[in-house]
Amino acid sequence: MNPVPMNLVENKLKALHDDAEKDDARMQERMANAANPPTGEPIDYENIYLPISKEQGQGIRKIIVENACKQVVEFGTSFGISTIYLADAVRRTGGKVITTELLDSKAQIALQNIKDAGLEDYVEIRVGDAMQTLKDYTTPIDFLFLDGWKDLYLPLFQLLIPQFKSGSLIYADNVDMESTQAYTEYVLNNKEAYTSQFMHGGKGLLSRVL
Ligand SMILES: C[S@@+](CC[C@H](N)C(=O)[O-])C[C@H]1O[C@@H](n2cnc3c(N)ncnc32)[C@H](O)[C@@H]1O
Repeated sequence: MNPVPMNLVENKLKALHDDAEKDDARMQERMANAANPPTGEPIDYENIYLPISKEQGQGIRKIIVENACKQVVEFGTSFGISTIYLADAVRRTGGKVITTELLDSKAQIALQNIKDAGLEDYVEIRVGDAMQTLKDYTTPIDFLFLDGWKDLYLPLFQLLIPQFKSGSLIYADNVDMESTQAYTEYVLNNKEAYTSQFMHGGKGLLSRVL
């Protein structure tokens, strides 16, 4: 295990979580731009984190370490808060994170944040639409983290099904949102293939491939 100083990771996470608290103010500023009104597309959120909570990050990190997950795939990097938790986990298990971000500007800032945390050796960022950048992905997945655009949860999950194996874990964020229902219904209804539990106040759904 590469001995990245713990403070480097935790200090960077604290600074990023603190900065993300300004998301609401940034969004209000964006909404007030009458000349260029938001359309609900990812570009509207170019300056906005939309991160997982500290509790979720710490919980996900623990799950990855306890289950010795090595190959981790992430849908939706943003500025890299969740990626840092994932990378810190695979640093301990001897694994790697493949993360995906649509917007190049966000991916570049995420990369710098990951470097600041001393974790760049554990992360590959694929820039562009994850449906394309993961199209030819072939390595078996131990842990999939879904946190990109919600209507793509199910198609992306289905794209990656051939890479799942018995014991693969999938954590989906924001399953309390209407737009993720196609995914949650698919997973919850396929009881012969997946077992699932809600966590983090019903915001997350952790599923295990049977
Ligand atoms: C909720 S944010 C991710 C937050 C991040 N996981 C965290 O906790 O710090 C969703 C991100 O997914 C990205 N995204 C949206 N559609 C995407 C796509 N088709 N492929 C890759 N990334 C996408 C957005 O640009 C946005 O940065």
